[in-house]
This record gives sequence, structure tokens and C-alpha cells, in this order.
Amino acid sequence: MRQARVLIDRDFSVGQTDPRLFGAFVEHLGRCVYGGIYEPRHPTADEKGFRGDVLALVKELGPTIIRYPGGNFVSGYHWEDGVGPVEKRPVRLDLAWFSTEPNSFGTNEFMDWCKAAEVEPMLAVNLGTRGGEAARNLVEYCNHPGGSAWSDLRRAHGWEQPHDVRFWCLGNEMDGPWQIGYKSAADYGVVAREAAKMMRWVDPTIELAACGSSGRNMPSFGQWEDIVLAHTFDDANFISLHTYLNNYRKDTESFLASSDLMDSFIEEVVALADATAAKRRSSKRMMLSFDEWNVWYRTRRNRADRVKEGWPVAPPILEEIYTMEDALAFGGACISLLNHADRVRVACLAQLVNAIAPIMTETGGGAWRQTIFFPFSQMSRFGRGRVLRTVVESDSYESSYYDPRGTDELTFPVGNVPYLKIAAVAGEAGSLSLFMLNRDLKQETEVSLEARSFGRLVVTAALELRHDDLQATNTKDAPERVKPAALQRVNIDGRRLTVMLKPASWNMLHLSAS
Ligand code: AHR
Repeated sequence: MRQARVLIDRDFSVGQTDPRLFGAFVEHLGRCVYGGIYEPRHPTADEKGFRGDVLALVKELGPTIIRYPGGNFVSGYHWEDGVGPVEKRPVRLDLAWFSTEPNSFGTNEFMDWCKAAEVEPMLAVNLGTRGGEAARNLVEYCNHPGGSAWSDLRRAHGWEQPHDVRFWCLGNEMDGPWQIGYKSAADYGVVAREAAKMMRWVDPTIELAACGSSGRNMPSFGQWEDIVLAHTFDDANFISLHTYLNNYRKDTESFLASSDLMDSFIEEVVALADATAAKRRSSKRMMLSFDEWNVWYRTRRNRADRVKEGWPVAPPILEEIYTMEDALAFGGACISLLNHADRVRVACLAQLVNAIAPIMTETGGGAWRQTIFFPFSQMSRFGRGRVLRTVVESDSYESSYYDPRGTDELTFPVGNVPYLKIAAVAGEAGSLSLFMLNRDLKQETEVSLEARSFGRLVVTAALELRHDDLQATNTKDAPERVKPAALQRVNIDGRRLTVMLKPASWNMLHLSAS
């Protein structure tokens, strides 16, 4: 058995979680929209075509804000194609996913769906094939009350009230050669700055995220941020970053260590943003939008998993089936995001339904929770509040991590990785939530935690997620093979807590003031 000691103090905090830290992502990709959130012929669909079973699972998952409509898709998207009478909307070839886009679901349908799902909308604009004018027109269409061509068009389409979209992404992954309209940092910087200016002239209250690097392994990482920030520092509020964890090497210990590179990535982007501020003697602090993160590798590299021939509508692509092991790595990523709540104000689990998603559906059939559903739903429900600094003494292991880039094979040192990864969040009325990952695959870890400056605490929720088979999955026929169970061995004596974590387990404890 391993032992770990943790010290927290209610007065020593990292920062307050922004509600938008618990976001997700809906892209016109595979069966995420069509056959996912929208399926008019489904038995549970409402009069708008929104699947009721999916809506119920989305509410249980608990995302707060949803990014839309892409992703790679947005870089070739004409938003005007997706508004107005459905029968007049054009059918287009989507060059991001080599499928046919019927455009029967567009911006207004998405706004209605967000209302039904009780989430805030986040829109990305196309800075791949388009630029500032199309972007500012969309802001006018969505946010201007009326009395102008674009806002009156929205009203004529049946949405009298503005959609009031607060958060906008200035394009998507513009540093990647796979992107439609891929640009150099300098070219993107100019387009993003000018789009930002125009969008904000239409609605000065919106917040804007410039594209940072689409991965820490990008060769341009660092230089990209320097140049883009030099152009957009005054006009954007956020710089984005994306990460997809992988276990290509089939090395579980390294895979579970890999979320620690998200910590490094966040701290590096903060350093880059603050260096730009320093050069300008500016007190402005750019915030981070981690607007794509997840585990994704099985359906990532093979063309057959990414593209179905013949330009189909809503092909079953990127339908990653998540294992217990993936849920552990994913839980590590949740802890990384929480522990940087001071600067990561927005984060989006990519994605929501069917395509690399916590929720799976069968077209015409049922819907179920993948393994990664559970750490996210617990984080969203219990992770709101003031994230506390944790002082952790834990045994550790040396790890490096494999991350492919194109045909190159790269290995990144992760360094010394503590077996225990933990985040602590002080909530309302003296409550405390603990999120704990035991990365030891064989041994239990006994965690002794001292919660200074708290009153007497009692356990109000204690859950663990584990399975004897790290490759266990949830499927249509066995949708509950992996699910949370009660975390049994918790002892609490005032402010001192002892909890036994099983090997390879994700654990969540919620404590209230007694
Ligand atoms: O989420 C899937 C894809 O991953 C997104 O479209 C793109 O932005 C990223 O490369």
C-alpha cells in the first residue's frame, strides 16, 4: 500500500472556477448534430427535432457552455446557409470531414437547443475561407436587437429576440495544415485582429478568443503565440489551446501521466501571454480558453475512421469507444483544468455526442453514457467554487509520453509524476470537494488529508470509478459496465481525513460543514 499526505488551507486558493470551465462542444461532424442532438424522427424527439433522451443525458452531464459549429467544420462554413426556411437552404460538400452538409440544423436551431439544454451558446466564426465581414455580420444577426439588415433578417426568420451570444472564437486551429484556410501566424494575426475589431464594434460587450496552438506538439508552438498575441493582445480576451491525450504506445502508466503535460502547456501559454503583456508594460491578463480537450487516438489517424467514402450525410466517424483507462486519463485532465482555474476560464470537452463524446446514441434507438461521462459530470456538479492549493507528498514514478505529429514520432519527458493527482475545491457554506486519481495500477493509496481553516466536515457524497478490466467499455448492450460506486473507506475526524483509494481509480469526495 502507498501513502500520500495532502495539506490544504481554506485561505490559500488558486482561484474561483468560472462556470464556463465546464463547457463542451458540438460540431457538424459525423453524428454529433444529425443523429446526435437532432433527430426529428426519433421517438423521443420534440417538435423541434431535439432528441429528448440526449437532452436528459446532457443535463445530467452538466456542461455550462457549448462551442459550435466547429472545429475544422467552421473554417469552410457559410453561416448564412444554415438560417432561413429549411427547404431553401443549400446542401454543401463539407471539406473538413468529407461529408454532405444538409444545413437543416443551423445557428437558430442551435440557439433553441441551448435553451432546451439550459446551456450558454459559444460561437466560432470562419476565419479560414472568410474574414471579418462575415464574422461581424453574424454578430449583428445574433446580437443586434433590430433595425438593421442582418438583425431584421433574424427577426424575419422567426427569432424576434437577439440570441445574445457572449463568447466568440476567432476561427479554429489556424496553425494546422489540415485546416481549411490554414494561415501563417502573421496572416492569421491580422485577420483575427480586424475581425475582432469589427465584431466588437457591432457588440462591444462580447468576449473573444484568438487561436493559440492546436497542440503542445505543434512545431510552431510558442512562436505562434508570440506573433498572434502581438497582433491580437488589445482586441482579444482569451488565447485558446487544445489537447487530445493518447495511448498509442499501450503504456497505461505513461498515458495516466500525460495529463500532467496539460499543466505544463497551460503554464507555458500563461508565460507566453504574460511576456507579451510585460513587453507592453500592460497589466492586462489574457485568459485561456481550453476549448478542445479529451482523449482521442483510436479513431484519429486512420482515414477509414475519419472519412466514409461517397460524401454521406452524418457518417459514423470519430466514434471513439472509451475504456476505463481512458476515464482515468480524462479524470487527470479534469484535475489539471481545475488546478489552473485562475487562468483557464473557459474549457470545452470535445465533443458532446457520438463523435469523441461522453454520450453515444443509436440512430433511431437508445442513448448511453461512455466511461468519460462520469469524471466530467462529477467535476461539473461538485467542482464549482474556490480551487485550493494542494501540498502533496506522494510516491512518484518517472514517465515520458509519446505524442505523434504526422509521421514523426515524438517522446516528451513528463518527469517525476506523483501517483496521487488531486484537486480540492472549497464550495458554498464551508463545503469541500476532492477529486483524486490514483495512478498506481497495482497498489492502493491511503490519502491522509488535513483541511486547515475548515470547520468540522461530514461526508455528503463519496464515489469511485474503477473496473478490474482497464479496457472495459460501456456499449449499447452493456451500457452500465463501468459506472461510479460508493467509495467505502473514508474516515473523518473533524478536519482530518483518511481515504483509501483503490489501484487505478478516479475518486470524488464531497464534504459539508457539520
Ligand atoms: O474535435 C475534433 C477536431 O479536432 C476538431 O474539429 C478540430 O478543431 C480538432 O483538430
